[in-house]
Amino acid sequence: MKFSPRTVVLKDGREVLLRHVEVSDAPRVIEFVHGFVYDEEYVPLTEGEFNPTMAEEEQILSNYVERSNSLFLVAEFEGKLVANINVDGNQRKILRHTAVFGMGMHKEWQACGLGTAILTAAIDWARANSELEILFLQVYAENQAGLALYRKTGFIEHGRIPNFFKQNGRYHDEISMHLSLK
Ligand SMILES: CC(C)(COP(=O)(O)OP(=O)(O)OC[C@H]1O[C@@H](n2cnc3c(N)ncnc32)[C@H](O)[C@@H]1OP(=O)(O)O)[C@@H](O)C(=O)NCCC(=O)NCCS
Repeated sequence: MKFSPRTVVLKDGREVLLRHVEVSDAPRVIEFVHGFVYDEEYVPLTEGEFNPTMAEEEQILSNYVERSNSLFLVAEFEGKLVANINVDGNQRKILRHTAVFGMGMHKEWQACGLGTAILTAAIDWARANSELEILFLQVYAENQAGLALYRKTGFIEHGRIPNFFKQNGRYHDEISMHLSLK
């Protein structure tokens, strides 16, 4: 299902375009992801782990374009990608009504309403999607910004796995949350 692009005004007055990714965005998506994932304590990736070739990234983006129960939104400011959300609809028949998502943005864009804007846009899209009924996610238990955002947008906690993340000699609990769309 298509996503209609929209412009949103953030708390600091900046205007950002939210639109669906295109396959031709592959180099910009790689640059954007490299620009924040390794600095973020609550993204479970270590240096060098995000390393797709251009062809692999194009294939990944093409899947988002083609799969009717999936979505990859980007936020664009002055021609640069500054945030994204990827909603991965399950491809198995008995799970096609479910999708897990992940999202992120560069540090300088955090806490000014962009997370709320891009997640709300994705939820609106998911509600209008005839297949999807459940969105779910996993988040670090210490990720206060993430938890505040997910609670604010209606997600409900349904589980916690102690010591799920193990990094730099420390363990972190995981919280699972879901949103019923129907
Ligand atoms: C987590 C993340 C997506 C949140 O997006 P954001 O744009 O920073 O969040 P928003 O500005 O829309 O704020 C959402 C709510 O959380 C609150 N919030 C923001 N930062 C917070 C913080 N550090 N602690 C507690 N609450 C916080 C805001 O007050 C806001 O509520 P309000 O509108 O009622 O005031 C973003 O910070 C991010 O990408 N972080 C790095 C990657 C990451 O953690 N991804 C999520 C993995 S599950």
